[in-house]
Amino acid sequence: IKKITTETLRKMKFDKEKITMLTAYDFTTAKMVDAGGVESILIGDSAANVMAGFETTLPITLDQMIYHTQCVVRGVQRALVVADLPFGSYQSNPDKALESAVRMMKEGGAHAVKIEGGIEIEESIRKIINAGIPVMGHLGLTPQSIYQFGTYKVRAKEEAEAEKLLSDAKLLEELGCFALVLEKIPANLAKKVTENITIPTIGIGAGADCDGQVLVYHDMVGMNHGFSPKFLRRYLDLYTEITGAVSQFVKDVKTADFPNQNESY
Ligand code: KIV
Ligand code: NA
Repeated sequence: IKKITTETLRKMKFDKEKITMLTAYDFTTAKMVDAGGVESILIGDSAANVMAGFETTLPITLDQMIYHTQCVVRGVQRALVVADLPFGSYQSNPDKALESAVRMMKEGGAHAVKIEGGIEIEESIRKIINAGIPVMGHLGLTPQSIYQFGTYKVRAKEEAEAEKLLSDAKLLEELGCFALVLEKIPANLAKKVTENITIPTIGIGAGADCDGQVLVYHDMVGMNHGFSPKFLRRYLDLYTEITGAVSQFVKDVKTADFPNQNESY
């Protein structure tokens, strides 16, 4: 199996071949997502939401993200494995950012890290990349800043924020980031960013003109009925499938249908 690298993604943009990315947080899921053929798997800090049940991504720790990353890495043969650095593990200063990124690579086994923000974290990004660690940027609706935004609505609809986003995107390219997630911004802005940088853009709620698309696994397989943003396409209705299977199991046990003779020793 030929492994996907940051170079593969760069070339895909050049060749106008779309890039796909999904999240995973555990071994078994990672195996299925890798087998399905995505180029990249993200251990998102959305683990705080879908694995741990927190309302925001802020509470998850670096140790917890490292654990999820270790589990995913064991299940992946082909995809590029990117891990989020969680809130508080890189914002305070560049030395801490580098230390967190090194732990994620060394203990977690990630192939790259993703961090949220632009010019505010310039020095941290520089430091991490100088250490030989590939960095994926993340602009737009960056969930670690939710208390500053106050809402999960579309970002950068106003000219000033759109201009800052474009200049942040150019900065991330200049710093040497290998790709960039654009979350929940107008499609025309994502298109403009994509056309103005040579590194791939991976969109979520950012329209069809990004170089690739990413979704949260639990959302795209429909495990999560409580989350229905317009950008989400559900490929399965696993919430219904799984609760149905569970209630059938309950019924089968209670009626002594399960286990039957073939299922007994
Ligand atoms: O944490 C996450 O799942 C993410 C993606 C939505 C890009 O950052
Ligand atoms: Na994230």
